[in-house]
Amino acid sequence: MWLSDKKIVVLVSGRGTNLQALIEATQSGYIPGKISLVVSDNPQAFALERARRASIPTLILDYNSFPHKRVYEDALLQALEEENPYLVCLAGYMRIVGKNIIIRFRERIMNIHPSLLPAFPGLEAQRQALEYGVKVSGCTVHLVDEGMDTGPIILQVSCPVEDEDTVESLSERILQHEHQIYPQAVKLFLEDKLNVVGRRVFIKKE
Ligand code: GRF
Repeated sequence: MWLSDKKIVVLVSGRGTNLQALIEATQSGYIPGKISLVVSDNPQAFALERARRASIPTLILDYNSFPHKRVYEDALLQALEEENPYLVCLAGYMRIVGKNIIIRFRERIMNIHPSLLPAFPGLEAQRQALEYGVKVSGCTVHLVDEGMDTGPIILQVSCPVEDEDTVESLSERILQHEHQIYPQAVKLFLEDKLNVVGRRVFIKKE
């Protein structure tokens, strides 16, 4: 298989700025693969519009139209199996990925989180950081396991928390870094340069 044939499926729920960073990194050739499908659990997600503008197929699995989580998860698993991607990227996807999907795509699902994990997992990480009073925060790209933001860490970058910061200003500063390290991590993954040993992820040297 040519490197550029490697398929990426991106799961989204919202505005999709990380999706946009990934789209641009595939279009420029920085990431040696293509986003073959964008799946949203939210029909209103602006990320869908970003995908359409880039001529990327989209699939809406409207969470609220499913009778319960299990049925939604089955539909998502089926869609992923049909697409059979090399990598699944969560980009502002607001749900915990079900166990069956994790098992089927073990070590092939990545997430970006706006804190230096293991600090401040879950929702509103930037608010948590401000309320705790840390002086440094940042973002983390990690593999997804059964826990909440607990999987092996691939890349992290830090940035300062300023006295004047609000949730919005800190989120924006962190977001600029997210848009750098998510494409970097995806590139490394597609180039098969990541070596996962237990909780540790090593980047293979040339
Ligand atoms: C980002 O801060 C990401 O780290 C978190 O959700 C936010 C999504 O933003 N998981 P966007 O939809 O990529 O703009």
